[in-house]
Amino acid sequence: MIALGADHGGYRLKEAIKAYLQEQGMEYQDFGTNSEDSVDYAPIAAKVAHFVADGHAEKAFLCCGTGIGISIAANKIKGIRAAVVTNEFCAEMTRRHNDANILCMGGRVIDEETAVKLAKIFLETPFDGGRHSVRIGHIQDIEEGRL
Ligand code: RB5
Repeated sequence: MIALGADHGGYRLKEAIKAYLQEQGMEYQDFGTNSEDSVDYAPIAAKVAHFVADGHAEKAFLCCGTGIGISIAANKIKGIRAAVVTNEFCAEMTRRHNDANILCMGGRVIDEETAVKLAKIFLETPFDGGRHSVRIGHIQDIEEGRL
């Protein structure tokens, strides 16, 4: 299960990713927004991030104008590792090294074609584990107040 969410600035990217998921026959849940009318991004980020953190979706995509605001909001939820990416290298590395569970992108930064390319990489790239698991453990230590 893949979750999707966007504000008005990321709406077009979300729709493009959704079309790709449909094409692939993948199961998804779309948390809106459903138009380019102005909406606030944090409540949408919270819904999607909780859905992932609660184990209902394995991964998610969140899009706003830059990808930044919606990622900051999502990263407030324990267990979420939301990464803003703009290129293929970062989309791959945030899976391999950060085990990112939410990919964030900006509709005012990249086009739909690029967003789908990055989404595909994010979905297909595994976590490398090893020394990177130790580093993810440190992030969990921060969440738990041990660091
Ligand atoms: C909305 O205008 C814009 O601020 C939002 O989409 C996002 O870019 C925030 O980080």
